[in-house]
Amino acid sequence: MQALLLAGGLGTRLRPLTDDLPKPMAPLGNRPWLESLIRHLKNEGVSRFVLAVKHFPEVIERHFGDGRRLGVEIVYAREETLLGTAGAIKNAEAFLEERFLVVNADVVHLIDVQPLVRFHDMRRALVTIGLTEVDDPSAYGVVALEENGRIRRFVEKPRREEAPSNLINAGVYVMEKAALRAIPPGREVSIERETFPALIDAGERIYGARLSGYWKDIGTPERYRAAHWDLLDGRFALPLLPPEAEPGIRLGRRVRLGKGVVLRPPVLIGDGVYLGDGAVVGPYAVIGDGARIGDEAEIVRTILWNGAAVAPSCTVHDSILGDRAETPLGLIIAGAVIKLGRSARSLAAVRPERMEAPVPGKAVARP
Ligand code: GTP
Repeated sequence: MQALLLAGGLGTRLRPLTDDLPKPMAPLGNRPWLESLIRHLKNEGVSRFVLAVKHFPEVIERHFGDGRRLGVEIVYAREETLLGTAGAIKNAEAFLEERFLVVNADVVHLIDVQPLVRFHDMRRALVTIGLTEVDDPSAYGVVALEENGRIRRFVEKPRREEAPSNLINAGVYVMEKAALRAIPPGREVSIERETFPALIDAGERIYGARLSGYWKDIGTPERYRAAHWDLLDGRFALPLLPPEAEPGIRLGRRVRLGKGVVLRPPVLIGDGVYLGDGAVVGPYAVIGDGARIGDEAEIVRTILWNGAAVAPSCTVHDSILGDRAETPLGLIIAGAVIKLGRSARSLAAVRPERMEAPVPGKAVARP
């Protein structure tokens, strides 16, 4: 089986983390999500991959190469300009087989591939759209289904009261290559806004199949963090997570703990992490490989990427620190997304709800 992974978007809602990183390469449980996705699809019988890339494609190409390391075959369909979710598929046409899987690579979902393909084949569908149920469908593409699963209507981002159902486009499709005839070449085309509505209007065999299991897109900082807390709560599993040292406490290799460190579960601590004396981590914290937490620092509901550092006596809540980002000494930081700047040690962008020195009158770092 072949899969085309859409991994070229700008990830604007996850900036600054995605300033120089494709969103699907953002770590989930300390490993690039795209790698976990490819490993999962391989276990589901997918052996050939086309990666549709545009935003910092070299980051993806450097990490995966030709796929040999993961035991799969990977080729790259590069875009000169952003072509959108359907334009990217059209751009990859020369690489595609007669029937293939398409996956939005920024969605955390461990797809059961074979039942989806069987559903598609039994109905002789042109496209089968994987569907998932959400409480509020207004941020997504929503479908109205007939009894047999055929899609009658597709509405992109409806007002909540106008949504025909709670079933949304999960960003997973089984497609026949013939569907590509409906996509004009050489320009930006959205599969959600243009291609699917046009195919349905033309009476083509477009079906929707309900998918089971965990589903969440990691397109915003809030959902990116929520996916981590769900991982820590065991709502889905990833390969390559370190085992639990105690209930709710996952420790990588070569972790150094100072005196009086408190780990409040659930937490995930990566390889080679240093935790200073009296540091408090958790509940809900994911600490990337090689990260350093200073003495007496407190980290709650926060994700640190690889090599990030929290200075002594800092309190960091509800935040994300990108690769090698460092906090200034002794600050209270809440609701921030922080990334290392181009010049060493400067912070590229900070979007804190709160960032202040704990002592009145002490200098406060400004975003
Ligand atoms: P925002 O800018 O925050 O909306 O993110 P995005 O455009 O990167 O993601 P969106 O949720 O809109 O897209 C869903 C998936 O399609 C993501 O995995 C994107 O990487 C991918 N994608 C979106 N647009 C393109 C594109 O023009 N080309 C390619 N190759 N992939 C795309």
